[in-house]
Amino acid sequence: MKGPIGIFDSGLGGLSVVKHLCKLLPSRDIIYFGDTGRVPYGSRSPETIEKYAHQDIKFLQSQGVSMIIAACGTVSSVAPHVGENLGIPFLGVVDPAVKAAIRATSNGKIGVIGTAATINSRAYTRKLLKENPSLEVFEQPCPLLVPLVEAGWISREDLVTREVVRRYLSPLNEKGIDTLILGCTHYPLLKSIISDTMGQNVTLIDTGLESAKAAAKIAAPISHESHKGKCSFFVSDKVDGFKSIAGMFLGYEISEEDIKRVDIEKL
Ligand code: DGL
Repeated sequence: MKGPIGIFDSGLGGLSVVKHLCKLLPSRDIIYFGDTGRVPYGSRSPETIEKYAHQDIKFLQSQGVSMIIAACGTVSSVAPHVGENLGIPFLGVVDPAVKAAIRATSNGKIGVIGTAATINSRAYTRKLLKENPSLEVFEQPCPLLVPLVEAGWISREDLVTREVVRRYLSPLNEKGIDTLILGCTHYPLLKSIISDTMGQNVTLIDTGLESAKAAAKIAAPISHESHKGKCSFFVSDKVDGFKSIAGMFLGYEISEEDIKRVDIEKL
């Protein structure tokens, strides 16, 4: 499979997939599109989410990508069909996370957190129960978490974020879940706070990591191992706003020359 791997999200969350995929397939080029001008998707209608996802895919295809990852829990849950008939492999984040959760659970009680649109779609629950009807699944929308992450309020010491997480997750803790799917690609950034709240005995399923692992199985490394893959970033709003928070997701700074702005509605 030649050509770069295309990855998109409503904003920055999909960078949690990029971070892991760069490590798993360091020789592959990656093209990332973050729809920063229209984030969040999670509070929008299914029709709007689907329209945005089609535009995001069209942009990535215009860049000659050989595979597309919808690194967005909301798109993957609400509009998985946008990846049909593209002529190239398409992967969302729901299936890899569901498989990992089923492997991880011992007591069969699984929690799912996500945006309002993701939880309303019940996509995670339906897939979990399809795989194993005896599971007990408990879902919780967490609409305030994406804005907190996009604002960079992710530190373990951040009392506001800790309290918001506690209020969302307490009901799941009371259900006795042993596995929690972070059903939105923004949430891995809050892993330490979520883990403090849920306790050591609850396994957190990182959608970014699981979908990167699944993608790496489909897209083999390119044959010249010495080739160092390049990551190019495209956004639909200000470049500097993206740059400052992107480093947090990726674990390294990116330069402004590697980020370009596109008018996603005019393509
Ligand atoms: N990263 C998106 C997701 O995984 C959430 C952000 C949004 O609401 O746009 O669902």
